[in-house]
Amino acid sequence: MSGRKLFVGGNWKMNLTVAEAHALTRAVASGLAGRGQVEVAVFPSFVHLAEVGSVLHKVPGNIVKLGAQDFYTQANGAFTGEVSLAQLKDLGVQVVLAGHSERRHVLGESDGLVNAKVRAALAAGLEVILCVGEKLEQREAGMTDQINVAQTVYGLAGVGRTQMAKITIAYEPVWAIGTGKNATPQDAQQAHVAIRRALAALYDETVAAATRIQYGGSMKGSNARELIAQKDVDGGLIGGPRSRPRSSWPL
Ligand code: PGA
Repeated sequence: MSGRKLFVGGNWKMNLTVAEAHALTRAVASGLAGRGQVEVAVFPSFVHLAEVGSVLHKVPGNIVKLGAQDFYTQANGAFTGEVSLAQLKDLGVQVVLAGHSERRHVLGESDGLVNAKVRAALAAGLEVILCVGEKLEQREAGMTDQINVAQTVYGLAGVGRTQMAKITIAYEPVWAIGTGKNATPQDAQQAHVAIRRALAALYDETVAAATRIQYGGSMKGSNARELIAQKDVDGGLIGGPRSRPRSSWPL
């Protein structure tokens, strides 16, 4: 037993109506009643945070954390279209994603911005899930560990040892996200070990052993059990299908 509590996140991306988000929140909360052995967070779209938060607020025991998919690093000001950490906290958000591959590769976020977001969220007292993962061509070129370690090291630059208690890493191979193709449990385990070694090198063995590393990328009911059975897989970050082929996206 690793002693790390399993952590499962639901990344709802740019999906659902208010009514659907409300219904899904209720379904998640009622499905989890009495299952305290797993930590759960949901990441609705910004426009549904208040509604989802109001449903979660009524659920006894704070069993599902409210999460946000993104945020801006600045406290306030003239940043049209952006959302601040203070605004998210005001709605009850406890945990945020940073470095999700759709933000890195579709919206063009750099390692520098991802790191600035990680540090801003920690400074605001929030928990962070830092997402890392290789593209297909990087995997085929044998660069999987190199990419994951680099994204981990860049993402955590300036993050102190004690702040690591608020960090979860999500290993999400880009080629597996929303494609129906998941990493094999063995491939996931290998990638997680490489990330955990990087944490040991950056901090120490204690931090490395305590930090949770989720797997994400087409995790579903039929494969979750064997992925999570791997020694270094501490839960999952679960999204949903793509609505359109990525090649037709505007950016
Ligand atoms: P997926 O997405 O489960 O649809 O592959 C995971 C994620 O993007 O976090």
